Amino acid sequence: MTSDHAPEWWRTAAIYQIYPRSFSDADGDGMGDLRGVTTRLDALRELGVDAIWLSPFMTSPQRDAGYDVADYCDVDPLFGDLADFDAMLAAAHERGIRMIVDLVPNHSSDQHPWFQEALKAAPGSRERARYIFRDGQGEHGEEPPNNWQSVFGGPAWTRVTEADGDATGPNGPQWYLHLFDASQPDFDWANEEVREEFRRILRFWLDRGVDGFRVDVAHGLVKHDELPDYMPPEDSDSMGGTEPVPYWGQEGVHEIYRDWHRVLAEYDGDRALCAEAWMPTAAEVALWVRPDEMHQAFNFPYLQAPWDAARLREVIEESLEAFGGVGAPTTWVLSNHDVVRHATRLALGPGHPQGHGVGPKTPGKPDPAVGLRRGRAATALMLALPGSAYLYQGEELGLPEVIELPDDARQDPTWFRTGGERYGRDGCRVPIPWEAHAPAYGFNDTGATWLPQPSEWAELARDQQEGDADSTLNLYKTLLRLRREHALASGELSWIDGLPPQTVAFRNTGVTVIANLGAEPVALPAGRLLVASTPFDGDALPADTTVWIAED
Ligand code: NOJ
Repeated sequence: MTSDHAPEWWRTAAIYQIYPRSFSDADGDGMGDLRGVTTRLDALRELGVDAIWLSPFMTSPQRDAGYDVADYCDVDPLFGDLADFDAMLAAAHERGIRMIVDLVPNHSSDQHPWFQEALKAAPGSRERARYIFRDGQGEHGEEPPNNWQSVFGGPAWTRVTEADGDATGPNGPQWYLHLFDASQPDFDWANEEVREEFRRILRFWLDRGVDGFRVDVAHGLVKHDELPDYMPPEDSDSMGGTEPVPYWGQEGVHEIYRDWHRVLAEYDGDRALCAEAWMPTAAEVALWVRPDEMHQAFNFPYLQAPWDAARLREVIEESLEAFGGVGAPTTWVLSNHDVVRHATRLALGPGHPQGHGVGPKTPGKPDPAVGLRRGRAATALMLALPGSAYLYQGEELGLPEVIELPDDARQDPTWFRTGGERYGRDGCRVPIPWEAHAPAYGFNDTGATWLPQPSEWAELARDQQEGDADSTLNLYKTLLRLRREHALASGELSWIDGLPPQTVAFRNTGVTVIANLGAEPVALPAGRLLVASTPFDGDALPADTTVWIAED
């Protein structure tokens, strides 16, 4: 921020994630689309968000729900075309809503022309050098080049069938690296041609007017030069690691974002980069948002905190210190398309690593009422914190994770690559309900949906919640309005001491915020109640409830 410049929008924005497959389906094929997004922008304006993050809609065989891109500069026909994109972006901007789009630079689809050319070319060729091809180990190269595992399960290497037997050399066919599905080969970011191509892609979307990018796997682009063996600890989170990992957080990634920062700075309008970097601590995540790098980075240590007051106070404190220390906002988040929805997650006990999901055979079913109550309290706490905040479509309706999805409906590559051992992420990706008494609950008008919607979702549909003052939808609207009116996002937090240890309590710009995470009610200080995450009678704050109190 410079003195002659108003604070950049991304420092305080409430940003709503649209997962286009499941948001709104204008053409009725069961898969959401860009025209569907355009028709629903008024609902987002009424909700009170400042910006949208749009998950991938580019040309893709959809082996990982669009995170496998075959053409970075076009729209997949499933979602529409570039004219639909332009119309959607213009309609968002007309309503004062900014839009950032997803960029997937760690890997492409195996259907990307570059990878197809690489398969046809010989080892050592320019075409192979855009990806990470290596000879195998063992007498005939029959073992992969190292022991790395895919985030989705199974080995991170796949052996190719060489087009020309003579080109294979004594080691036989080569292997290529894919940290995710075999259909998602990793680019080699040591190659200047890859860097130049992504500058072109950034400019393509910036020229169309996007306000920035959410950058997929922003901690993974650079691999350790020697590709040393590494095995993640048993049951670790699928994207994280607490020890140095030879493919996450390598020092070299930061130069890529310094370069991109310079590209974005050529454009007006405070365009922004947001890192998806699953690093274990806030201090490590903050490395992505140093002044000459990205602008935001999701605070996953916060998302991963259990429903525990001491841990939440600690992670909030660490976050404000770490991000504040580099002059960046903290970017709070509780849900997205990769994690169990927080209205379910917060009622699950420990032992559910991110990415594994929950399903019919998961032990210890979470209580939906407890989950929703905690989910609302957690959101009320998050939206009172200074900084930017991300919301995931459907959380404003209090949607739970869909646990009872039938096996044959599941589509997440995690489910297939682990032979059903991990349920994966389909349960948070089910098309959202708009109208209780319409086909597909108003997702479209044909009733087709790419994942089945549970019957209980009729009562959670947006139209059922609109007229109910105590609904989750109206809670979100109230929180977002008050957050803006009291300028909480640009405020400063000071802790309130002396309350019972099961509380998280602070002041921010004249608003007192108290969350009670314990089982017993807590006495409330005097003041005017602005909002309670769940309505209550009396003057004690019940369990699993957050209040905002004005001091006037
Ligand atoms: C993170 C994305 O959010 C996730 O959905 C995807 O599967 C992986 N990156 C691979 O692109």
